Amino acid sequence: MLKKILGQDTAVGVELTFDSVKLCKLKKKKSEIFLFSLCGKKIHPEPLRDDEKDAWSNIAIDTIKKLLSENKIKAGEVYISVPASFVVIRYLKLPYMPGEELREVIRFEAEEHIPFEVEQALIDFHITKDFVEKEERMMEILLVAAKREVIHEYIHIFQKAGLDPIYVNVDTFAIEDAWELGEEGSIGKEKVVALVDIGARTTNINVVETDASSFNRDIIVGGNDFTDAIKSEFGMSFVEAEKLKETKGAILSGEEYGTVTDDEKGRSSYAIESVATRLLDELDRSFTYYYTQLPSYKKNIDRIVLSGGSANIPGLANFLSNGLGIDVVSANPLQNMNVSKANISVDELEKKRLSYVVPIGLALRGL
Ligand SMILES: Nc1ncnc2c1ncn2[C@@H]1O[C@H](COP(=O)(O)OP(=O)(O)OP(=O)(O)O)[C@@H](O)[C@H]1O
Ligand SMILES: [Mg+2]
Repeated sequence: MLKKILGQDTAVGVELTFDSVKLCKLKKKKSEIFLFSLCGKKIHPEPLRDDEKDAWSNIAIDTIKKLLSENKIKAGEVYISVPASFVVIRYLKLPYMPGEELREVIRFEAEEHIPFEVEQALIDFHITKDFVEKEERMMEILLVAAKREVIHEYIHIFQKAGLDPIYVNVDTFAIEDAWELGEEGSIGKEKVVALVDIGARTTNINVVETDASSFNRDIIVGGNDFTDAIKSEFGMSFVEAEKLKETKGAILSGEEYGTVTDDEKGRSSYAIESVATRLLDELDRSFTYYYTQLPSYKKNIDRIVLSGGSANIPGLANFLSNGLGIDVVSANPLQNMNVSKANISVDELEKKRLSYVVPIGLALRGL
């Protein structure tokens, strides 16, 4: 969406959300990719409310500055992403037409599809499919639009922290980059994969077919809801509940419930399961909707690739797989990288891997 200077030998990806800032620094030597840094910081111990957005920008600037200085990362050019909730994503099916004509039609279509004036919008699009339907050549277009002002405000936060954003993506497409550039090969390209990222506030779904996104949706359920459920169950603070979630939280099988003797583990897991059931219902509804939209050239989902900090909850992948009847695996965007120069241990990397898929995807795109 901004000027792109891709193909450099060092790239820093930074993801800023309402809850955290996360950074990944990669270097490429010949064809080998080295991980140098993976570091992050919470914006605030407790999630800020929506009406605290002004405060959020200032705290975010401070948090980015602290993250850079604590990890000795030099200020410079960065690849950043905005949350999918900041943009409108639409898939348009149009008869095939050449470039100039398409540009005109997209502008017209954008007026139909975006809830604000086209004059105030930044619009990006690309052709994701070129196919024949009823003997007519057709194409599918991925349209991404955002309010110019919103994106510029976001970029300013990075600039005020001393960084220079040279490329802006959307988090959901950075996850797709992490999958395609970091993991490609572990499932054939002909397969359909649903990338499901369970963050702090939202769960994002991006269905990818043969290297192209074909369905995107945000579900408003995330890690903060798991923590809130534990907080209510025990009547404790958010910070205490967050800690309990990360140390003892899990989704237990019926058999495990029967044998668990640790009250905190049993009750926190019960609380987590109630939220996970809501999430499962929403995922099921979204996939059903995706299937009803399925034109003849689309296929069923073969696999879910789970990412986001909340994907660390033990038993969650299994719970979703059983409930949805789809194979679920965890994302592993570091699998083809050399991590010998990383700033953290292999154990730490293993713990962080799922939470850092967005900055990894951003940095990979930059190399
Ligand atoms: N080991 C863990 N066990 C359980 N939950 C965890 C663990 N590690 C992180 N989380 C949860 O993951 C969430 C943060 O995930 P992530 O960093 O992907 O979110 P985000 O990108 O900041 O948010 P969003 O994508 O919703 O804007 C928090 O709710 C946190 O409690
Ligand atoms: Mg996220």
